[in-house]
Amino acid sequence: METKNNYSRRRFLQTTGASLGASLMAVPFANVVKASPSRKRTALVGTGVRGVSMYGRNLLRDYSDYIELVGVCDINPGRLDYGVEFIGTNAPKFTDLEKMLADLRPEILIVTSRDDVHHEHIIKGLEYGCDVICEKPMTIDEEKAQAIIDADRKYDGKVIITFNYRYPPYRAKLKQMIMDGLIGDIEQVEFHWNISHSHLMRYMQRWHGERDFGGTLWVHKNTHHFDMINWYLDSDPVQVHAYGSLELFGANNDYRGNNCRDCRYTAKCPYHWDITQNEHLRKLYTDNEHHDGYIRDNCVFREEIDIHDRHAAVVKYANGAYLNYSLSAHSEYSGYWMALNGSKGRLEVRTHSYPERDYEELLFTPNRRYTNEPPRLVRVHHGVGGHWGGDPILTDQLFKNPDKPDPLGQQAGVRDGAMSILIGIAARKSIDAGQPVNIEGLTDLVPMAKRPK
Ligand SMILES: NC(=O)c1ccc[n+]([C@@H]2O[C@H](COP(=O)([O-])OP(=O)(O)OC[C@H]3O[C@@H](n4cnc5c(N)ncnc54)[C@H](O)[C@@H]3O)[C@@H](O)[C@H]2O)c1
Repeated sequence: METKNNYSRRRFLQTTGASLGASLMAVPFANVVKASPSRKRTALVGTGVRGVSMYGRNLLRDYSDYIELVGVCDINPGRLDYGVEFIGTNAPKFTDLEKMLADLRPEILIVTSRDDVHHEHIIKGLEYGCDVICEKPMTIDEEKAQAIIDADRKYDGKVIITFNYRYPPYRAKLKQMIMDGLIGDIEQVEFHWNISHSHLMRYMQRWHGERDFGGTLWVHKNTHHFDMINWYLDSDPVQVHAYGSLELFGANNDYRGNNCRDCRYTAKCPYHWDITQNEHLRKLYTDNEHHDGYIRDNCVFREEIDIHDRHAAVVKYANGAYLNYSLSAHSEYSGYWMALNGSKGRLEVRTHSYPERDYEELLFTPNRRYTNEPPRLVRVHHGVGGHWGGDPILTDQLFKNPDKPDPLGQQAGVRDGAMSILIGIAARKSIDAGQPVNIEGLTDLVPMAKRPK
């Protein structure tokens, strides 16, 4: 049988021997930074806030015994300079990813660049023999997703999509309860996420507000949510019917400025934000605008904004389950509510940011057909660290214990990365077409009632 590895190794040699092989052989080996054999030679592309903190500074602070940061890349030379200084590394800097890969030959490439270029970086990393760790979303449309799927089949390297939403302890507990059969077969899921107005405006101010860069929040943000549901259901989506609209931001206002920091409507605009008051963001972004024109504090009323701020969808799964989904940002409320209704009972979680607390509670309501047990609350404390304690658990698995057993299947690869964005992509298409859209046919992935391992 043709496994990924024997197929891709052979294909790698066949297809890259002439072009890529030649460039690899031409590598000036003097440029290759030597790492201690026990530490993985790791390179980073994308020195925005995410890259320089979670996969830069924190990586050096917490995982220096396991990885060596051998190179850092960004197309913006100013952001790269400050990013490297902030990370606290002497690793060489590159504005060209291919040159970094050819010169340094890292074992791992971490991708924290803008969503619409993830596919280029994943594929380039695989071509150069790396394992790739890529931030969500895997990419923003079905053609780019297919290119990644093809490359994943072709090359040996492993691709991991960092769905940190799978890692908070209370979400892992929920997964365990489902796997233990507590609620039986899940038939219906309710999932309603609210981001506050003040959070949404951060998306509207930058590239996330334009679908060509972030694929709309259906993809950029909701990939997290759809992935969680796919993971809990252990099934693939088959069809999506969605509604969406843009009602607060973009052209929906009678005034607009250029940069938020010094706009002439500052006094009356409820979204006024002076980015220059934040030294880190100023050094990372505003000081380097002249290199590439990337404005971090655009007007939330600029006419280029073409994403939605109100989202609702119904998703049908291959195992017969239905998902009722919404993402709203029309309030200052921040939190979500999720319920999984199964043949044996219901599991529910509600989170909110006010008041701050260090735990979540899962409400289990057994089905009377099975037991007379009363409903019960299961309290699970957050861990230490970002995203309800999930981020450090994810990075431990990535860098410290990559071979540790993964009984809950928390680590996600290309298929999971694809299935989660395909729901968002189908939702976008459904809104445009005014009818349901099938997942099958968007890529060559065939939805399955039970996801393959
Ligand atoms: N999992 C999470 O919770 C989470 C949180 C924040 C961000 N993210 C993801 O992390 C990624 C980065 O987010 P961010 O907020 O730091 O964005 P950002 O825009 O601040 O940073 C992206 C960087 O990529 C660089 N870049 C763009 N095109 C490039 C190219 N062709 N080659 C090299 N570099 C290029 C930009 O110059 C910029 O420095 C995004 O994909 C985002 O979705 C995930």
